[in-house]
Amino acid sequence: MAADARVTGQKEASYHLPPVDSVIPAGQNFTIHHLRCLDVKIHLGFYLFPHIFHTLFTTLKSSTYVLIQDRNVAGIYGQALQQAWETATQGMEKQPRLLTYTLPPGEMTKSRQVKEEIEDWMLEQGCVRDTVLIAFGGGVIGDLSGFVAATFMRGIKYVQVPTTLLAMVDSAVGGKTAIDTPHGKNLVGAFYQPQYIFIDAGLLRTLPEREFSNGMAEVVKTAAIWDAADFAKLESEYAAIRSAVLDREAQQSATQGRHSSDRTIAQDLLLDVIRGSVGVKSHIVTIDEKETGLRNLVNFGHSIGHAIEAVLTPEILHGECISIGMILEAELSRRLSSFAQVNIGRLTKVLKAYNLPVSVTDPRIASLDKARELTTQRILQIMRVDKKNVGDTKKIVLLAEIGRCHEEKATAVHDDVIRRVLAPQVRVMPVIQEAAASSTPARLSTPGSKSISNRALVLAALAKGTTKLRNLLHSDDTAVMMTGLGQLKAAEFQWEEGGEVVVVNGRGGALVTPPTGTEIYLQNAGTAARFMATVVALAKDAEGKGRPTVITGNARMKQRPIAPLVEALRSNGVQIQHPEQDGFLPLAVSGEQGFRGGRIELAASISSQYVSSILLCAPLAKDEDVVLELVGGKVISQPYIDMTIAMMRDFGAKVERLADPSTGQPTDTYRIARGGYTSPGAYDVESDASSATYPLALAAITGSGVVVEKIGSSSLQGDARFATDVLAPMGCKVTQTPTETQVLGPSGGALHQFESGDVDMEPMTDAFLTAAVLLAVAGPNPESGAKSTRIRGIANQRVKECNRIQAMMDQLAKFGVKTVEHEDGLEVFGMDRSQLKTGVSVHCYDDHRVAMAFSILAAVVPGREGTVLEEKRCVEKTWPNWWDDLETKLAGAVQGVDGDLLDHHAAATSSTAASSSLLTTPLSKLDNSQTPRVYPNDATIFIIGMRGSGKTHLGQVAARALSRTFLDADVLFEEKHGVLGEFVKAHGWPGFRKAEAELLADLIRSRGTGCVISLGGGVVEGEANRALLKAYANKQGPVVHTVRDLAEIAAFLSTSDRPAWGEPMEDVWQRRKPWFAECSSHELVNLASVSGLANKANGATPNENAGALDASSSAAISIAPARNQEAQVSAFFRFISGQDTNHVDIAAQSIDGQVRPSYLLTLTFPDLIPALPLLDEISTGSDALELRVDLLSPTGAAPKEPAVPPKEYVALQLTALRQRTSLPIVFTVRTKSQGGLFPDNAQDEYFSLVQLALRMGVEYLDVEIQWPTVALEALRAQKGRTQILASYHDWTGKLNWASTDTWSHYERAVKYGDVPKLVGKANTMQDNWDLETFRLKAAKAHPSKPLLAINMGSLGQASRILNTTLSLVTHEAMPFPGAPGQMSVAQVQRARHLLGLMPQKRFFLFGSPIAHSLSPCLHNTAHQALGHPHVYERFEATEVTQQLKELIRSNGFGGASVTIPLKVAIMAEMDELTPVATIIGAVNTVIPVRDQSGKLRLIGDNTDWMAIHSLCKQHLPGATTSNAAPLTSLVIGAGGSARAALYAAYRLGSQRIFLYNRTLSKAQELAQSLPKEWNIVVLDSLDAAELVEAKPRAIISNVPADGTSLSATSGAGVILPSTLLQGRGGVAVDMSYKPHKTPLLELVDKTNNEAATATLSASDAGSTGRWTAVPGLTILLEQGCQQFKLWTGREAPRALVERECWAEYVK
Ligand SMILES: NC(=O)c1ccc[n+]([C@@H]2O[C@H](COP(=O)([O-])OP(=O)(O)OC[C@H]3O[C@@H](n4cnc5c(N)ncnc54)[C@H](O)[C@@H]3O)[C@@H](O)[C@H]2O)c1
Repeated sequence: MAADARVTGQKEASYHLPPVDSVIPAGQNFTIHHLRCLDVKIHLGFYLFPHIFHTLFTTLKSSTYVLIQDRNVAGIYGQALQQAWETATQGMEKQPRLLTYTLPPGEMTKSRQVKEEIEDWMLEQGCVRDTVLIAFGGGVIGDLSGFVAATFMRGIKYVQVPTTLLAMVDSAVGGKTAIDTPHGKNLVGAFYQPQYIFIDAGLLRTLPEREFSNGMAEVVKTAAIWDAADFAKLESEYAAIRSAVLDREAQQSATQGRHSSDRTIAQDLLLDVIRGSVGVKSHIVTIDEKETGLRNLVNFGHSIGHAIEAVLTPEILHGECISIGMILEAELSRRLSSFAQVNIGRLTKVLKAYNLPVSVTDPRIASLDKARELTTQRILQIMRVDKKNVGDTKKIVLLAEIGRCHEEKATAVHDDVIRRVLAPQVRVMPVIQEAAASSTPARLSTPGSKSISNRALVLAALAKGTTKLRNLLHSDDTAVMMTGLGQLKAAEFQWEEGGEVVVVNGRGGALVTPPTGTEIYLQNAGTAARFMATVVALAKDAEGKGRPTVITGNARMKQRPIAPLVEALRSNGVQIQHPEQDGFLPLAVSGEQGFRGGRIELAASISSQYVSSILLCAPLAKDEDVVLELVGGKVISQPYIDMTIAMMRDFGAKVERLADPSTGQPTDTYRIARGGYTSPGAYDVESDASSATYPLALAAITGSGVVVEKIGSSSLQGDARFATDVLAPMGCKVTQTPTETQVLGPSGGALHQFESGDVDMEPMTDAFLTAAVLLAVAGPNPESGAKSTRIRGIANQRVKECNRIQAMMDQLAKFGVKTVEHEDGLEVFGMDRSQLKTGVSVHCYDDHRVAMAFSILAAVVPGREGTVLEEKRCVEKTWPNWWDDLETKLAGAVQGVDGDLLDHHAAATSSTAASSSLLTTPLSKLDNSQTPRVYPNDATIFIIGMRGSGKTHLGQVAARALSRTFLDADVLFEEKHGVLGEFVKAHGWPGFRKAEAELLADLIRSRGTGCVISLGGGVVEGEANRALLKAYANKQGPVVHTVRDLAEIAAFLSTSDRPAWGEPMEDVWQRRKPWFAECSSHELVNLASVSGLANKANGATPNENAGALDASSSAAISIAPARNQEAQVSAFFRFISGQDTNHVDIAAQSIDGQVRPSYLLTLTFPDLIPALPLLDEISTGSDALELRVDLLSPTGAAPKEPAVPPKEYVALQLTALRQRTSLPIVFTVRTKSQGGLFPDNAQDEYFSLVQLALRMGVEYLDVEIQWPTVALEALRAQKGRTQILASYHDWTGKLNWASTDTWSHYERAVKYGDVPKLVGKANTMQDNWDLETFRLKAAKAHPSKPLLAINMGSLGQASRILNTTLSLVTHEAMPFPGAPGQMSVAQVQRARHLLGLMPQKRFFLFGSPIAHSLSPCLHNTAHQALGHPHVYERFEATEVTQQLKELIRSNGFGGASVTIPLKVAIMAEMDELTPVATIIGAVNTVIPVRDQSGKLRLIGDNTDWMAIHSLCKQHLPGATTSNAAPLTSLVIGAGGSARAALYAAYRLGSQRIFLYNRTLSKAQELAQSLPKEWNIVVLDSLDAAELVEAKPRAIISNVPADGTSLSATSGAGVILPSTLLQGRGGVAVDMSYKPHKTPLLELVDKTNNEAATATLSASDAGSTGRWTAVPGLTILLEQGCQQFKLWTGREAPRALVERECWAEYVK
């Protein structure tokens, strides 16, 4: 075997030969690398066409060359090839023939049929045995052409010119040729070697990026099995390798790199990488051509990868599946062949760097419906079919280390092990205790501590000499740190002992600024960012230009503060710029002035990492010793500072903590001597103390022994005290040396509770979960008898990966363990382990600590069922090989659980039903606020919030809006228990909280439906109350949290007589905030008015276009929808109770039976508040508004870089928008890759905003379907009444509407959305026709789900016109359109008209005299603004003529307004009268309705009353409900529209309606003719005592203006007495509109002025209300707008209409 041993790790001998120059007759000079595979000659270089033809003509002479290619390649290279051919054949005596055959691209081409076609064609062309075939293309063309060559005339010569990376490094090399059959891929073929393989790396520049990555998967694989050095190159140089072909510059040149003298470094690298890979494959093929043993090694990653591919093809490419396969097979290697975890990390990182997926949860895969088919069973079943596999083992290539396989062949692996690796969840079996107890203590070290690892890396890099770091933690954080240090050339890193040891060759602080354009990207690694900020100040620009080094991070990192550190460094002369935001990353740090040293002051109350950052670099200061003084209050986390100093000393630095000379006490000032660091040679990173708690706890619970190495009494980590402070008091024997900890559990694991029943875990909060599972099975304390232990000091654990206290309570309860929650912790009651419930499935909340803690408890659960731990992979955060170590080092038994690889929830079998866990899955880990469910419509609504946040007021509004009873719990409490203060005095706070909880429980029980109940501000302080509210919001009904600005609350409370707060309000708020969030399903921002904010924002002009839209001149008649807070709040409550969800009626048809398209206007403002005045106009014609949250920015300037807008800002914007509009809102957060400006990698932040939207009750939410299925499932369960627009956008321009891919996106969108939304891009008109075909197919497949589907781009506009569901539109006044190709409503509608989809209609005004009517102006303005082709005309008539009768029955008739004298006469012509028209006895609106068959019906309606009613209602908020004082109204005049006015007054809820007319009898007559219940009281005088006493609040005058007067001497028919408008204020409507200011309206002004003066002198606010005047013109316009809506189904643009009509009026 000695010879064999040298077989691996080698490359084909020719690989080592130097390149040669090839000069062709035309004069070009190529540098060619020659390789051999068997006898096949391989030539590698750049831009080789001339060289290829020259070589063929000189060494493979033939009369006929046949070139086979696919259409894509032909399109790109056809011409260049032809040219090269012509040049090469120029002057040849006998011109050879070049025959070209072009095929469709794709795997389908690799078929028998196509092979036949080619053969028949070649025979027709007279090809004979000397024909030379050229396979020009990717693997498809190569495999197919090779097989044609193998059989044509029993084999002809051929050459491969691979054009994809995959073909270059894999398929073209080795001589395997094949076609596919319906039975499977590559089933018919031959081993048939080409003569040449020409690898022209220049061809890669046109290869789509995804295909490049596809090939890189094979390159990475080859390096992983064969060559560690190649692998390291791929790791460190990926940017350069990619840039060699993907850079714009690289894309442009078509010759650069032919000769080695003008190759770029990147080109050299790329060629090197390809050559390395080909060298390996050639070597292996040469030794084992027919795949009998060694050649199997190239199948690393393929056994599992192929099975995944079988499910996911064709959507997911081969290399992408292999990439995932490699990670899974590496995990098998970790379990079976000691492949180190660090290497899995390296493999993962390098694959990710080439943009390959590394797990099936990758959004590219998870978003496919077929990904759901990926179950453990299915994968094992597919693998079983492989002929290499027998029985229940599978052949898999295992790695021993990077670059070396475990065996020189594939290894047989048992299915159980594979299942363990594949399964998303594990089953932990009980440990056999006797066996465990009798064995010698297990020994292990846990992964290194993160804090120590990061420090060790910096110290080793800055030190002189080589440091071997052992036990370094391999996590994202340390990887980022290493990459950053590498970029600065601070050190070189190598791996030894299979990756166990990291060798750091430090350069003693000689750091170099990275090349221009290279930033140091630190992801979200906080420690790295802080440490690096000072480290980069040591770097020098090698070119001496003084360039700064830029460090940056992801969106979240950019929000984490760094200002104190920057300040301190600046004060020391370091030049630091903030390219984006002051005080936050990115930083541009110039090392020119260097880090001088001397005295530095640093504020150290925020983060100890600032301190460590300066300390670590201090020994390298340029000029003086550093004296670091920590200022600004209490220094935070002193232990971490001590840790840094201790480690600095290990690396030879001198650090002194100065003492106060007077007291001798240590101060917060440190002196650090200059002189740099020296390597200690080797450095052992301490084990992570929190991780160490698990193996130690296992010893404790099973009564066995465990020794954890590299952590002991000298440790600086708080959790290192777990053994002595927690395990020892519970009955374990603990022995600790400075560097080791041993625990021997009590016999039989007989642990007991703490003597005091109490343990403070504040110094080691992360370890509380471990303690909790031990306490769960601990017996009573033998001394004190305590049966439980209360863990204190762990309140912060509520805001970790999940609410860990809640998580422990919920999961322990599944085992039957009793717990009680406390404000600062958790009390656990011990139980007999034999009584633990069995068969439990533990939900881990994706939290590593929950998973590891419960795997300890699982070890002692009785029975043989085992305990399932869902989400096994969550341990990867700190201990990726936990499950392996549990099994191999700690004698645990772990099995895989069959199930869905993607979704642990669906697979969760037993105790947690899938649906209920989805209901509790947090949408975002950032906060634990609840989200709404769909509750019963009549469920009582509870309101919680800070005192003074408006609970009572808003609750009353809600009760009015929903016609419910309002209850105030504080009032109920006092009714029951007397005055609150007294009660507290008598019973103390605990007594009060108890009584409060009883009341709450009682309310939930007895008033669970039909109420709105506001609760006291402190209700969430009580644990029991919180539990009740949480459970209520979780299942029964809405709990609304009212949020109000603290300053406003303070101002409000200062005016109230309620007692002041006992502590600062800010403190109270901070404490309660998370409680309010977790107890409520909704939140409502109490914002009195945004107008003040608008003024604050930036003056009056919202943007440049705004001036043109300002309608101030017509303000006097305004009907613009001023939405008061009451309307907004009412709408919110109607939404959450389901009374009116305000959704767009997408299925609606217009009155003529046509589809009525709905429009969605995209708002792209960075700040909506200044733009609100524009809203009415820009939303003309829109049915809903899309709030693009990703475009919001508190700076008011459009964001340029992806950023996360602050939540509070988003909430404010949403509230402001609602105050202005009643249109439904679509809440959209569009990520960068979806064409928006939200960071792609901020899933938590994304869902945190989604959560906010759901809580605020938005009508629609747009969510991208690429998010993981788990998240989408959870969202579907927690969206309340919000509807989801499930969207898929393709920005690559490649979406093919006819593909199965697109259909599967659609199916996913249907599954998770109420409205599926698909957006592609049109490159040709055909794309639009394809879309329409798709639309028809979709309508058949899912008729109940309206589809929003469009193509972007200008060509895509056709699809926007044809789409009828929420078509996205823009408006000229918007800063920019939401997407390329967006049009305005008017543009779309005009286009629809031109396409014949909206025929022109004629509208009329009937009556006389009508010459001066404003109606034509109103309607025509509105039609035009909306892009309607319709016209509105005057038709003067005093009677219903024949012509009129014909008109209203004619085809194009759209509707008519009817005025005097025809209002009654027209009634006979109607087919139907509305009940209102019947009651009023007049028709003013004719509506033609056509049914599907086109049959016409004319409906007579009366809208006169509507305008009066709605304007009165608008100006009398709250006056018309049961809670308010009874309303009385007055109608003046019995003619004209008196009937409509009386009806309006009745509908307002008036208890009594007074009617006055100059001629009494006419009034009496009218009153007689109307229903009794209207309660009309006829007056003979406007001075009547009855009237004065009743104080009517709604007054409507029908008398022509010149018939009224304020002066008794005027001689007018009706004199309006000054007593008319007394009382509490109200609204006065004058139906007459000439002149504008009528006597009644004058009286309003007069009354208001007098009231104001009176109030000032009497200082008696509130007793006199104001009156609102509604002029006749306003009524007229309102009425016209209502008609417009009845006819067209759309709102008229009120502001515009107002302006135009006013101009016409004053003419
Ligand atoms: N024979 C073997 O040993 C072996 C090994 C691995 C894979 N294969 C086979 O290879 C095939 C896959 O090969 P592939 O990944 O090269 O696929 P492919 O041939 O289908 O090419 C991928 C895509 O890239 C396009 N393309 C090719 N070169 C381009 C260029 N330079 N610029 C722009 N576009 C370009 C193609 O038109 C195609 O759309 C499969 O059929 C597989 O079975 C064979």
